[in-house]
Amino acid sequence: QELSLQLEMLEKGGFEHFMLKEIYEQPRSVRDCMRGRIYPIEGKVQLGGIKDYADKLKNVERIVVIACGTSWHAGLVGEYLIEEYARIPVEVEYASEFRYRNPIISEKDIVIAISQSGETADTMAAIELAKERGATIFGICNVVGSSIPRITDAGVYTHAGPEIGVASTKAFTAQVTVLTLMALYMAQQRGTVKQSDLVSMLTELDEIPTLIEQALKSDEKIAEIAEKFKDSSNCLFLGRGSGFPVALEGALKLKEISYIHAEGYPAAEMKHGPIALIDEDMPVVFIATKNSSYEKVISNIQEVKARKGKVIAIVTEGDKTVKEMVDYIIEIPACNEAYLPLLATIPLQLLSYHIAVLRGCNVDQPRNLAKSVTVE
Ligand code: G6P
Repeated sequence: QELSLQLEMLEKGGFEHFMLKEIYEQPRSVRDCMRGRIYPIEGKVQLGGIKDYADKLKNVERIVVIACGTSWHAGLVGEYLIEEYARIPVEVEYASEFRYRNPIISEKDIVIAISQSGETADTMAAIELAKERGATIFGICNVVGSSIPRITDAGVYTHAGPEIGVASTKAFTAQVTVLTLMALYMAQQRGTVKQSDLVSMLTELDEIPTLIEQALKSDEKIAEIAEKFKDSSNCLFLGRGSGFPVALEGALKLKEISYIHAEGYPAAEMKHGPIALIDEDMPVVFIATKNSSYEKVISNIQEVKARKGKVIAIVTEGDKTVKEMVDYIIEIPACNEAYLPLLATIPLQLLSYHIAVLRGCNVDQPRNLAKSVTVE
């Protein structure tokens, strides 16, 4: 028994849980995901897995993303990126909803199916349906050789390595990385981003693994914040723009592993409902980094503080304005707005992790959840 315990410690690379190990692997997994795919000096993205469809991407009029769970959140980030940079309309659908109606889909469409395991039953069935209707299917999967990559027309692996923790962490950031690469690849094919801008964007993207490393340095501070909120029964996560899917993912992580009821919302929608819940016992986590929605988020923070809510804000390093308004801040390095989800997700993963550990939960294998859901 002692031997098996030692083996397990070895597998966890000295970390207490797989989840923590996988959170800390992200500088490397994101780097691996970009390896051989970006050429910053030339301003070029190369995606061998979908290169045969370069012409189709030039003229495609619509992309539909299908996925479940965390992968669906990655899809929402992809929607922002593809629409912003490649100017292609994107719809993001839960695979389970898509397949049980009569979706409008044809050979003109490209469907992107996202799945860490490559085995999710609903996603598989949605792919089969889209295939029957003639759509071109791209996969974004982590497990090499799994079922989904075998039934898609083309795809890009995330190369995050095996993910053991049931709650997805490094697979999510790798999915977002692939979607970023796809958006820039599409932009390159369609000429929607200037070549000089591609050079600077890819140069900045190349730095993201280093910035993730810096974001991880807040771990100790986050553990202290977790102490204050470990006994909460509810938590709200708010963000705008691509900060909204980050908020959804933050809320999902917290409920999955700590069993605290959490909701993610677009910050501006708070006034249409969740604001009714705010009192001194309601922690609200804001994505309040310095980007295009900064000023708007600040006024949303004021609305929460006016109702005595407790605010934890994810801010850009050096931010003074938000710091003075809120209860706790967690800093992340400044970055191009396009890459915000890759950095802002990190502290939220750590926050959920520490809260769950403090509550004595089984973080690697939360109750009622499975790593891959092969039932419908
Ligand atoms: C399960 C897992 C989630 C995952 C979802 C979709 O619910 O617990 O972490 O996001 O399935 O899985 P997939 O493998 O298709 O990404």
